Amino acid sequence: MSNRFKTEGCVAIVTGANRGIGLGFVEELLDQGAARIYVGSRNLADAEAIAARDPERLKAVQLDVTRPEQIEAAAKACSDVTLVVNNAGMFQMERLYKTDKPEIVRQEMEVNFFGVLNMVRAFGPVMEANGGGAVINVLSAGGIVAVPDMGGYSPSKFAARAASDCLRAELAPLGIGVTSLIVGSVDTRMASHVTWIEKSQPRDIGKAGLWAAERGIAEHDTDPHAIGVRAQLARDPAGLAAAMAKRVQS
Ligand SMILES: NC(=O)c1ccc[n+]([C@@H]2O[C@H](COP(=O)([O-])OP(=O)(O)OC[C@H]3O[C@@H](n4cnc5c(N)ncnc54)[C@H](OP(=O)(O)O)[C@@H]3O)[C@@H](O)[C@H]2O)c1
Repeated sequence: MSNRFKTEGCVAIVTGANRGIGLGFVEELLDQGAARIYVGSRNLADAEAIAARDPERLKAVQLDVTRPEQIEAAAKACSDVTLVVNNAGMFQMERLYKTDKPEIVRQEMEVNFFGVLNMVRAFGPVMEANGGGAVINVLSAGGIVAVPDMGGYSPSKFAARAASDCLRAELAPLGIGVTSLIVGSVDTRMASHVTWIEKSQPRDIGKAGLWAAERGIAEHDTDPHAIGVRAQLARDPAGLAAAMAKRVQS
């Protein structure tokens, strides 16, 4: 079945929709005519605060992507969904070897990899029942280049990227497209430490993600930083790896 996803009239659920890029998606979906948007957040009050902006179209949902019972409840309650935006993410800037918090890597994996998989497994049947749809996975330039001082985060995004490729093949016959977004630097709390590069705005990523999903694009670089990393990776992979290694050698 071909990808027929259209933003206008779609019913979306966005994880981590209370701030940052997730909120950027909510705002773009509203502007582009989505029929309904489920605002997923770990803290229900945070989701309700966003949903109050447009009570007709925005509905608050408590959703921690590491909690199967909450995902299952959401899939039951939001049975009209045709778009899943897997945006929720955890980033702790830890190393794999020299760390006094060895548990962080597992937590990042739980959110950034298993969280995506949990959502797809729960909402795949919902979208299938609704005649198809789309999944947008918000990944990272750290998912195409290994970044040693993002020792848990970077592998979790690599894993989510590979899973996106596997899921795309599995879901295509069901009329469900899977689009991976390779995101560089965006002005959110997660990237508040990034001061050396111009950051994109959360809504730019929402716009780019919906644009790519509508066209059935498998993987899309959303912003100048991501495009730059991709180009450098193609031009000089060894040089890029060496530059990344220096981040933990100083
Ligand atoms: N900002 C960047 O430069 C950048 C670059 C590349 C990729 N990304 C990706 O973009 C996505 C959004 O990040 P952001 O920049 O918007 O960061 P952010 O402002 O820090 O937002 C992160 C969001 O994820 C939510 N979250 C964390 N753990 C969760 C869980 N277990 N269940 C549900 N929600 C959870 C947070 O909820 P709480 O408010 O409850 O904490 C928050 O809503 C992430 O996947 C991130 O990896 C961002």
